[in-house]
Amino acid sequence: MIQHLKKIGVLEIVVFITTVSILAQKGNSEVTYTKDITLDIQDAKLNESIARGKEIYSDFCMQCHLPDGKGTPNVFPPLAGSDWLIKKRKESIHATKYGLNGPIEVNGKPYNSAMTPLGLEDEEIADVMNYIMNSWGNTQKKMVTLEEVSSIKK
Ligand code: HEC
Repeated sequence: MIQHLKKIGVLEIVVFITTVSILAQKGNSEVTYTKDITLDIQDAKLNESIARGKEIYSDFCMQCHLPDGKGTPNVFPPLAGSDWLIKKRKESIHATKYGLNGPIEVNGKPYNSAMTPLGLEDEEIADVMNYIMNSWGNTQKKMVTLEEVSSIKK
């Protein structure tokens, strides 16, 4: 009798452990699955924003910062490889939204000129920022969103 009970006990433990490990594996695979989809959606959104931003760049920025983003020495600072753009994310969005003037230093070179406000919508600013932050070798992991642009006040 005792032997019989013991047998059931062991069997139950085995079944229990197997169930737990199957559930755990299932749980894990679901987590990875959701993560991949979220990343795909983010990538797709960023790519669409960059594509719209490219158009805005040609219409509103290219005449000064040039098609290759290199600018003009001493006059128009570069966006390609710009340390200002990388380190001063908030100020860069602010500059595109409200304009920028006065002395600044980009990649160790001084500029003291003026960029007038361009009159873009917040959504357009997010798009053009995503374009310049992901072009000419620039990379930016964190996408600029409409919410982020809206939160930057004068
Ligand atoms: C009329 C010329 C002109 C246009 C058009 C223009 N910029 Fe600028 N931009 C400048 C100048 C000049 C500066 C530097 C201002 C200063 O010296 O304070 C500047 C600075 C910047 C900076 C910060 C410095 C750097 O090089 O990283 C960013 C970012 C920027 N511009 C983005 C843009 C974007 C995006 C657009 C289009 C939506 C745009 N600019 C359109 C002339 C222009």
